[in-house]
Amino acid sequence: MDDVRIAVVGLGHRAHAWIHLLQRLPGYRIVSVCDPIEALLEPALAALDDRRDVQATTQYDEVLANEGVDAVALCVRCREQGALAAMALEVGKHVNSEVPAAHTLEDCWRIVVAAEKSGKVYQLAEQTRYWGFVDAWRQIVAEGQIGRVTFCEGQYIGYYGTRMFFQDPETGRSCGVEELSQYRGARPTWLQDMPPIHYLPHELSPMLKVLDDRVVEVSGMSTGSPSYAHPQITTPDIQVALMKTEKDALLRMAAGFTQPVPHARGHHWYQVMGTGGSIEWGRSGRDRPKMWRADGQMHDMAEMDWRFERTDAPAEARSSGHGDADYYVHAAFRDAVRDGRPLSFDVYAAMDTAAPAILAADAIEAGRTLSVPDFRPGNGRSIGEEPAIGELPKDK
Ligand SMILES: NC(=O)c1ccc[n+]([C@@H]2O[C@H](COP(=O)([O-])OP(=O)(O)OC[C@H]3O[C@@H](n4cnc5c(N)ncnc54)[C@H](O)[C@@H]3O)[C@@H](O)[C@H]2O)c1
Repeated sequence: MDDVRIAVVGLGHRAHAWIHLLQRLPGYRIVSVCDPIEALLEPALAALDDRRDVQATTQYDEVLANEGVDAVALCVRCREQGALAAMALEVGKHVNSEVPAAHTLEDCWRIVVAAEKSGKVYQLAEQTRYWGFVDAWRQIVAEGQIGRVTFCEGQYIGYYGTRMFFQDPETGRSCGVEELSQYRGARPTWLQDMPPIHYLPHELSPMLKVLDDRVVEVSGMSTGSPSYAHPQITTPDIQVALMKTEKDALLRMAAGFTQPVPHARGHHWYQVMGTGGSIEWGRSGRDRPKMWRADGQMHDMAEMDWRFERTDAPAEARSSGHGDADYYVHAAFRDAVRDGRPLSFDVYAAMDTAAPAILAADAIEAGRTLSVPDFRPGNGRSIGEEPAIGELPKDK
């Protein structure tokens, strides 16, 4: 195959970063842009180096019917995100999907089965797993430098003000709570309905890579609705999930979009504790990551110069976004589609990050601990087969 002919679907903020990168990287040609909001088509076309022969449509079905489209880049923010990915796989298109992948367990399974049946590539474009410190921590854990892992924490407190929570359906313009009197037609976005904990793939992806593990049980708690910080928004400020992994480590993962935090602190924070030491990310812009080894004659934790940016990043990764990490998801997807190179973060590993997040919200709702299925074939399910009812969530 020559260039991957790709459709960009969902033309909001994130899509413009994708359009920029997809044009910078060799191996891609954008052939279609799609959003139900017609006013967003022209700005997307205007961002293209060459807009000739590019399909611009408000109808996703037309993208799926376009034989000139090899792959779909899903940058949507909606409840049907997982179904849209599965629909593309089902008609034989590859899918590179933004985080968080899906919002129901049924959609997770539909993606897995469609990827298996079609043999097409499904990638969750979760980029933080490519950060430099993630590889360093994975090696520390794999070498047993901090012993057996007992506890791991991750959190995404993504506070960007309130503009992601309302959108004018005529113009596609986002608007914050302070602008609502000016934009009377503005409607709440999916983010107001979405349990914040659904965004955990951003934390589970890097931490499960570090731990080389998968979540088997999940429970959780939430603050109430509406937000205490912004009462005009229905989203709870904080949701916390408590999880157990196959290797018997406990994870505490938190997410929120309306809890104010200082910008310099960043949205992410992580720590991993083992029987022989611990590693942790910096707590503020001034703070540094740290490490402690029980057998190292260390009275306190030592500062470490781990960063998001990799020391071995190629030139084209620099400034691609999110500490240079955005480059890696597009390079991996291109190489998988064009050259058949297997993804290290395959559809099963992607669902290992999406399903516990969805089930955390279900567990909060039900007030119970739930089991997380393993999406890999085996245990009575062969490739391309629908899961048995028993694979759906059950109480612990
Ligand atoms: N990986 C990252 O670092 C990162 C950063 C930001 C956002 N994201 C993810 O990217 C996605 C988009 O975020 P955003 O900030 O651009 O959101 P946005 O609200 O600005 O844009 C989303 C667009 O999707 C469109 N859309 C909704 N339903 C659709 C459908 N059925 N078919 C086609 N288009 C549809 C909306 O009209 C909207 O224009 C989200 O899933 C978000 O979680 C990831």
